[in-house]
This record gives sequence, C-alpha cells and structure tokens, in this order.
Amino acid sequence: MKKRFRLVLSLLVLCLLFSLTGCGKSESNTTNKTLLVGTNAEFPPFEYINNDGVEDGFDIALIKAIGNEMGYDVTIKNMEFKSLIASITTGGLDASIAGMTITEDRKQSVDFSDAYYTATQYIIVPINSKITSLSDLNGKDIAVQEGTTGDFLATPADDNEVITDSTTNVKRFKKGTDAVLELKNGGVDAVVIDANPAQEFVKANKESLKYIVEDTSTEEYAIAVKQGNTALLADLNEGLARVKANGTFDQLVGTYINGTSTTDATTSTNPFVKFVDKLDRVFVQTNGYMRLLNGLGITISISLLAVLLGVALGFVLALMKLSEIVTGKKTIFSRIANIYIDIIRGTPSMVQLLIMYMVVFHNRFGFIAAVLTFGINSSAYVAEIIRAGILAVDNGQMEGGRSLGFSYGETMRYIVMPQAIKNILPALGNEFITLIKETAIVGYIAIQDLTKASDFIISRTYEAFYPLIAIAIIYYILIKILTKLLNLFERRLRKGDIH
Ligand code: ARG
Repeated sequence: MKKRFRLVLSLLVLCLLFSLTGCGKSESNTTNKTLLVGTNAEFPPFEYINNDGVEDGFDIALIKAIGNEMGYDVTIKNMEFKSLIASITTGGLDASIAGMTITEDRKQSVDFSDAYYTATQYIIVPINSKITSLSDLNGKDIAVQEGTTGDFLATPADDNEVITDSTTNVKRFKKGTDAVLELKNGGVDAVVIDANPAQEFVKANKESLKYIVEDTSTEEYAIAVKQGNTALLADLNEGLARVKANGTFDQLVGTYINGTSTTDATTSTNPFVKFVDKLDRVFVQTNGYMRLLNGLGITISISLLAVLLGVALGFVLALMKLSEIVTGKKTIFSRIANIYIDIIRGTPSMVQLLIMYMVVFHNRFGFIAAVLTFGINSSAYVAEIIRAGILAVDNGQMEGGRSLGFSYGETMRYIVMPQAIKNILPALGNEFITLIKETAIVGYIAIQDLTKASDFIISRTYEAFYPLIAIAIIYYILIKILTKLLNLFERRLRKGDIH
C-alpha cells in the first residue's frame, strides 16, 4: 500500500511539474523589446481565432508589422473587450489593438495612437425584418457586445441619442458572435455592431440575416497605451507611418478586409446537402474535430490529476478523522479535517474555481488552478469514502490481528486496509466519473476543455445544435466506457474473495 501510495504521489508531482512547464510560458513585459498587446479576438476581420487556434486578423498582423518595423517582440493576449482598458491602466498590458474606437470617455483612461481605420455602426437584422434604420430600434430588443460603441449607441443614455425609448431592451454579450447567435435564434430583433464585423457575420449567415447600412457618425480605430507612455506612443505612431509608407498596410487591408472569407454558408436548399454542409462546417472547416479531441484530452487530464490529488489528500483527511476513533475522542486532527470537509462541501465548486484562479493565482496557470480546485474539492468526498471504507471492515478483523500479536499499525496495514480497499476502489471510480462531469465549468477560467471546445465552434459557425449534441455524446461515451471498466475491475476484485 505504502509503495503504491508513494508511486501515485510521485506521479502526481511529476504531472504537476509537467503542466507547470506547459502553462508556464508567461508573458513578461519587463525586458526592453517586448510588447504585450491585448485584444479581444471576437471581432472579425480585425481579430479572431483562426482555424489553428491562434489570434489572427488585420489588427494582429498590423501590430506585428509595426513591432517588426520598430524592433519589438509582440505577444498577443486575448481577453474580454471590456477588460482591455483596465489592464492597460494597471500595467498588465503595454497596449491594446482591438478595433477600439477613440472616444472621449476612453481618452480619460488611456492614450491613443494615430487612427488607423475609419468605421461606422451597422445594424444586423433577420432577412425579412421591417427594421430599416436606427430609429426603428426604439422599443425593440437589441443585442450588442458589452462595452463597445455599438452598446453605447443602443443604450438609451442621454437625449442626444437616436434611441431614447426606455422600453428598448439591450442584451449585452461578451462576444459579438454570441449577440449574432441570439439574433439568429430569435432572442432579439437586431444587433448593433461595427460595419466590417457586421459584414463578416452576415456573410457567414446570409441565408437568414442581412445588414442595414446606417448613416451613423464615423469612428476611428486606434491603438491604446497607458496614459503618459509617450515613448511607446511615439514608436507606435512612427511604426504605423512606416508600414503605411512601405505598402504593408494596404497589403493587409487587401488580405484581411477586402479579401474573401472562407466561412461562407451554403445556399443549397436540398436538406441533405444542407445537413452535410453543416456537419462539414461545424466539424471540418473550422477544425472543430481537433478542438473537440484536444478538449477531451484536457478534460481527461484535469479529472485524472484532480482525482489523484483528491485521493492523496482524501487519504490524509480520512486518517485525521479516524484519529477520533482510535483515541475515542475528538482530536485536533479530526477537528481540522471536519472543518475542511465542511467548508469544501458547503461551497459551490464554481466559486472555489474562481477563487483559486483569480485570487490565488492572479489569472494565471489556469490548468494548475483547475487541477488544484477539483483535487481539493474531491478530497473532501474521497475522505468520506476512505473513512467509510475502513470503518466497514468488521471490528473482529482488528481484534483478530491484535490477538495474533500484530501491532495496531501492522493490523491496519496487512489485515484491515486490503479489505477496505475493496470497499473503497469502486467508490473512487465513481468519484472520478463525477469529477469528469464537474470539470465542464473550467471554460470560465479560459481553459479549452471539451465543453469550451463546443463554445468555440458555436462562435465560429453560429450552429449551437451540432457542437452541443456532439459534446454530450462524447461525455456520455467516455463515462459509459469508464463505467464498464470499473464494473470489470470490481468483479475482478470480488473474484479474489472466493477461495
Ligand atoms: N469599435 C467598437 C468599440 O470600440 C467595437 C470594438 C470591439 N472590438 C473587439 N475586438 N471586440 O467599442
């Protein structure tokens, strides 16, 4: 037992170290020539995640070209749009490039480079909608991306706005694609968003959506830096001027903005062709199947490492609790174990995950935060499983061992534990299965697990049905296989009982 336990422990440490190095590529912005640039890759054609899973788009290419010109190593950090400015002011980012419009409000918090693109707001509506202008949106349900100029336009804030009707209902989404999906599913009447993304979104959904060119005032996109960082601002402006002068800028406009998109939807009306085309779009074109496979790998790794950690911690906790039985009264150990188990079981794992990731790890090392959270969470349940498993062994076994001249520890080790393990192992298997399903929330801390993979596919293809059913099936199969294996294993254990 001791040997096996040691093996499990060292395996766990090894795995943790492994993932630490894997996730440890942290972006530091202390060395001279690095530039950490935030974006929100939910805004095609300016920024999006490409089929290889990396940030791409006009803005990304532009900032890299500027960096190249001025001798900066550019690292891109993808985050929520509304967190960009705050991250710049706190120094978490050197700059942001995110199709961000220069506004008076934002200028209070950050400094902007020279403008590099002029945009307007468009309205996306269902193809047969009666809405033809901004003023038609009064009293309607509108979806927007949270904290964007489209949001400000749609929100009846002051009297200068076109939309002043207080019954207008604005639904704010973290991603433009989610807003579009809401529209597609009939949850709102319109989406207000910048012109180029609007065109991209409609292009990908041309059988059901159209856009309305609104004569709103124009907006200018620029790169944002921390207020007073004049040196960086000067470099960025100089770099921008250079890439404009040497033709790179126009080339990027050609590739990213005036080029053709690959996410065109089918126009066929044959239901079978449509079905196959959808499958192709969801699972092949966007590399969806790779996402799902990778996600599955991550889901399994997190669950497996967490259950190992849970068993190690749970074993210690169980012993701490059992000290109560050995001594016949509450001990300091059993008290600590009880409080620990009480707290862990009394709070939602989602909350534990967020605390671990945001408070303990400061939004870094998501994978480790997830393993630790679920390991700690699971240990509380495992402790009870192990404790109950040991207690279930008949008292006579202990007495028998002792009367044979074994010490307490020896009896535990050679007589009680081997029997307890037969009670414990099947229950641990169930714990593993429960964990697999529970880890579906790690997407909240930006881990690309199986559930999150479906999220990605949905936002690329605007199809919710196929990816969601697909992950449900994958979870189901995984758990079926595990259950079968466990049953087999349990039967073999029981076989040992028949002499
Ligand atoms: N231009 C708009 C704004 O500044 C929308 C930008 C959204 N960008 C993004 N990467 N999601 O508010």
